[in-house]
This record gives sequence, C-alpha cells and structure tokens, in this order.
Amino acid sequence: MSEPIRVGLLGCGTVGSGVARILTQNQEAIAVRAGGPVVLARVAEVDPSKADAVDLPRSCVTTDSMAVATAEDIDIVVECIGGVGKARELVEAALAAGKSVVTPNKELIAKAGHGLLQLAAARGVDLQFEGSVGGGIPIIRPMKESLAGDDLLSIAGIVNGTTNYILTRMSEEGASFEDALAEAQKRGYAEQDPSADITGADAANKISILASIAFGNYVDVSEVDTEGIDKMHPRDLVAAAELGYIVKLLAIAKRLTDDKLEVRVHPTMIPKTHPLASVGGVSNAVFVRGRYVGDVMFYGPGAGSLPTGSAVVGDVVDAARNIRHGSSGRVPCVCAAKAELLPADQICSGYYLRMTVLDQPGVLGAICTVFGEYGVSIASVYQKRVEGRSADIVWITHKSRESSFRQALQRIDQLPVVERVSSTIRVEDV
Ligand SMILES: NC(=O)c1ccc[n+]([C@@H]2O[C@H](COP(=O)([O-])OP(=O)(O)OC[C@H]3O[C@@H](n4cnc5c(N)ncnc54)[C@H](OP(=O)(O)O)[C@@H]3O)[C@@H](O)[C@H]2O)c1
Repeated sequence: MSEPIRVGLLGCGTVGSGVARILTQNQEAIAVRAGGPVVLARVAEVDPSKADAVDLPRSCVTTDSMAVATAEDIDIVVECIGGVGKARELVEAALAAGKSVVTPNKELIAKAGHGLLQLAAARGVDLQFEGSVGGGIPIIRPMKESLAGDDLLSIAGIVNGTTNYILTRMSEEGASFEDALAEAQKRGYAEQDPSADITGADAANKISILASIAFGNYVDVSEVDTEGIDKMHPRDLVAAAELGYIVKLLAIAKRLTDDKLEVRVHPTMIPKTHPLASVGGVSNAVFVRGRYVGDVMFYGPGAGSLPTGSAVVGDVVDAARNIRHGSSGRVPCVCAAKAELLPADQICSGYYLRMTVLDQPGVLGAICTVFGEYGVSIASVYQKRVEGRSADIVWITHKSRESSFRQALQRIDQLPVVERVSSTIRVEDV
C-alpha cells in the first residue's frame, strides 16, 4: 500500500464540512480511484467546534490556518474560507511551500487566479478549482480536458442559484423582487447580504473563469459588463412569458475573433424553447457551443455543502493522482495573455423595451421615427394595457448596437408623448 496523501483543510463551514464528510465517509472508494489512501490530516477553522462532526482527533484541529497551509506533512491544501485577502495569502504560501491546492473560491480565482496559476506552474504543483463554477456540476474539467480538441465558440450560463430562484418565483408566481428575495433568504438560498448575487458580481467572477479557460486568454473580471436583477419588475417577466420568452440572469462569453471576446452578465430574455429556459429554482446550467461538438449543456446543483464538496474532492483525487505519478501540471491552465473585451457599447443584441405613452394617434409613428434615425429596427410591438389616457407598450427590436439603442432611448424618453421608459431587457438567441 502506498503512503497516504495528506490533506489540510482550511475552513470548515458550508463547503469545508462537506469536503470533510466526503473525504472521511467515502475513504475506501477514493483510495481506489486515487491509487492509494487520501486522508484528511488537519483542519484549520476560526471556530474549531465546527470541525466536531469530522472524525478527527481534536489535536488535528487548529485555528492557525497558515500553519496548516504550510505544514511539512501536508501534500494537498483545500482552501474553503472564501474571499480574496486571507485566502490569497494562504494559497500563495501553500503553493510556494510546494503543496497542490484545491479551492472552490470563485472570487479568488477570478481576481487572482492568473498569478496563482503561474505560481503553481513554477512550483510544479496543481491548483484546481472545479467547485468555483457551478458548485457540483462538472464544467471546468470537461472544458479543460474533454473539450480540449474542440474550438469553443460561446458559453451561456445560469451560474447563480440565488438569482435563478428569485427570477423563477417572479415569473411563475408574479412575486415582486423584494418578496422573492426575502423568500430566498428564508430558505437559505440567499445570504443576509445578497449583493454579490443580485448585482451579478458572483456570475461575473464565474464567467470570467469559464471564458479564460475556453478561450485561452485571461479575462479581467473588472472589465466584464455586469448588470444585476434588482431592477426586474414582475410585469416584464409576465410580458416575456406571453411573448414566448423567459428571463434568466445569463453569463455570456463569445469569441469574436482570435484575440477579441465579448463577456457580459445581465438579465436576458431567451426563447422558452431554449434548453436553458427549463433550468428553474436554484439549479445551474452551462450551455457550451463548440465548432465540432455542437451544443452541450451541463446541468445540476450550483451550490451546497455536499454537491460543492463532491467537486472539491474530485479535484483532490486528481491532485493526489498527479502527486503519485509525479505529473502535476499535466493539464496546463495558464493563460497566454489578458483577453481584449469588446466595449459594452459595441455589443449587439435584441432588446425588449416597455414604456408608458399617451394613448393617442401618432405615438407609435413618432417613436419609430427615432428608432429609424439610429438604425434600430423593430421586430414586434404590442400594446399591453390602457389606463386612463396612458398605454403600456412593449417593443422587441432586432439586433442593434448597444450605443445606438441607448441613444435612441434617450431621445424617445424626451418625446412629449412618452410618459416614461420603464424597462429594457436584452433578448438573445444564445
Ligand atoms: N456555499 C456554497 O454552496 C458554495 C458553492 C460554491 C463555492 N463556494 C465557495 O466556497 C468558499 C467557502 O464558502 P462557504 O459557503 O463554505 O463559506 P462559509 O460557510 O462561511 O465557511 C467558511 C469557513 O471558514 C472559516 N474561516 C474564515 N477565515 C478563516 C481562517 N483564516 N482560518 C480558518 N477558518 C476561517 C469561517 O469561519 P467564520 O464563519 O467564523 O468566519 C467559516 O467557518 C467560498 O469561496 C465560496 O465562494 C461556496
């Protein structure tokens, strides 16, 4: 029997406790798959009582995370504390000390992954992060390995379960954004501070990771055009449904040319017939288009202790195999250069637009004239309801450049017959 590979776990919260449970409960199968035993040897946790559920002598549990990250008898460090500051310091120290590192920390990988992967390559160790996108869904390794022979063209993902749950409640039950968010918090699907989810920042981290892997140049997440769901009105979700669409917070990345990408996150109307349309509740899915494979979709639980723990332990097994075979870095993941992103105002998409206008002759003509001046062509227009002297009108445009659409909208908003422009949502046929 070969020597055990020893794992040091940093953080024993939601994901860390799942990792600990799987590593201990599924030890035998893991040993077979990893070519020898893999043992959870040490845990670092601010509150050591959180590690009580783990069958580990108390002497192996400490509050000193740096000691575990750099311990001589640890081969693989699993970082599950989250955030960038302390986590980055610990991961850098572990890599520098020659440990392979596994982390589900998307913020860390999106913001510091490029440098950390270079450090890992320089030290001849692995840095694996399957759990950082899509929780339990295998997506990073399939993109790095199974699709390595393909020429990937685009990715569109529902990569945040909180916002997908809120939008599902709003469209299926007509709930307001505020009520749907409160419900998500009550059920434990949303944090007490949900800002990273509802602003789209979490999805931006994830799509920047996926786009970097798919297209080979690293995406600076601060450059990703990001819009959240906090301004969504149930009336728009109902109108979308009536028109044969559903609204999802999509993270989208497309390769435009060899060195130019389009990467963005925003509420998006997609046809109800699209495979992503049926992904409801807290589920996640990533839809990948390759030149050769065609369309493939990865679906499943996008978060949670055991699903994410499963992805993390899969990485641990892979890192353990590599250590046993002396072959770390077998699947390279260092990007050549920084990706050039198409500026947000150059992006082309269709638009849904709801506005309140005076219910009188000539209004549609006046609005169409402005659209025409900016080259925005109309696919369809519906009068939704009339209240007193006002009417709600919904427009769907053909694909237009963002800058032209926004300029037209500014002019339309100033027309005397237009009371207000209430909402705009991008329409995609991803
Ligand atoms: N939750 C999910 O379903 C999920 C899914 C995919 C990815 N992730 C990612 O996984 C990571 C962990 O998330 P989580 O939900 O498991 O967070 P969590 O429940 O808050 O767990 C983090 C744990 O680490 C502890 N901790 C913080 N700083 C520490 C330090 N310096 N040394 C030792 N322990 C420390 C925390 O203690 P205190 O609470 O006392 O600070 C907490 O117990 C994050 O990067 C997250 O984005 C989470």
